[in-house]
Amino acid sequence: MDNAGVILCQDLNREVTEALNLCAPDKLFILSDETTQALCYPLLHNIDVLKHAHQIVIKTGDIHKNLETLSYVWQSLSDNGATRHSLLLCLGGGMVTDLGGFAASTFKRGINYINIPTTLLAMVDAAVGGKTAINFNGLKNEIGVFQPAFRVLIETEFLRTLDAHNLFSGYAEMLKHGLISNYETLNELLAFDITNIDYNLLKQLVGKSISVKESIVQKDPKEQGIRKALNLGHTIGHAFESLALSRLHPVLHGYAVAWGLVCELYLSYANVQFPRDVMRRVIHFIHENYGSFIFTCDDYEELYQFMLHDKKNKGGVINFTLLNDVGELRLNQTASQGLIYETLDFYRECMGI
Ligand code: GLY
Repeated sequence: MDNAGVILCQDLNREVTEALNLCAPDKLFILSDETTQALCYPLLHNIDVLKHAHQIVIKTGDIHKNLETLSYVWQSLSDNGATRHSLLLCLGGGMVTDLGGFAASTFKRGINYINIPTTLLAMVDAAVGGKTAINFNGLKNEIGVFQPAFRVLIETEFLRTLDAHNLFSGYAEMLKHGLISNYETLNELLAFDITNIDYNLLKQLVGKSISVKESIVQKDPKEQGIRKALNLGHTIGHAFESLALSRLHPVLHGYAVAWGLVCELYLSYANVQFPRDVMRRVIHFIHENYGSFIFTCDDYEELYQFMLHDKKNKGGVINFTLLNDVGELRLNQTASQGLIYETLDFYRECMGI
């Protein structure tokens, strides 16, 4: 499968070799973090074209997705003779592919990079679609550019060593892709047993999920319109993520998105008649697999403030992507404070908190 540069690999060695032969860099650099260096790099060690690559290893974790780490990557490229014809291969989750993509896109005004995502979240979302970024001034993904990778090589074998929480986290973005595409895809995702994984089937679902994202990104690479579909679940999801962070109990991004989907499906039902039975089925799946984010009505104002400061807003109006039905998008929707509070009431009631 080839989605304009995204390849679901049957043979990673062959795909890496082909991509590098096509690109013919003068020097090759591999960026990984301490975790992917230890767990994932060994799967690449027998690939001949990588034998003389220079390794750049950064610390693991979103707190290191910052200017200091970016500077370290630029410095390593510079000190080791990278030119405009060199290539950076990013091996890792979204932190590595976001930061590495940004480092590559800005070094000498831009060198090629290849993403080999190692988490489910990065495979179906972060590493695909050309968004690169670092966090800045306490804000997530505040500085970055849109610059697609030369190739994104998807090797689902990496998922066999991924912990359950990170699998569930990525799966939330797949559910989102199901909701914005069609009933067939959504039903397959809801029927999949995520607690007892059939990795061959998961690979097929990952391929479909990437196709959903790629077809949207091809139409609107810089998020002027239809790419906002990918924000479903994220306006309230980001508010949950920020509240959790402010309480010093961070949650994985995909969990916040799953809980955000519960709320934004309710908003879709209340505002644009999304079918109630489908909403209930999706909420049931999320409740069963993701548990619930705990908050009380005393937290509503803070959550609302986080939504008001979402970077997707324009003119201080909270921007939601909603659905009239599965695959039927309603972009640039808004909701009153009263309806948002009603949504948070609904969430607490149906998630049993
Ligand atoms: N993660 C949403 C996007 O790539 O647009």
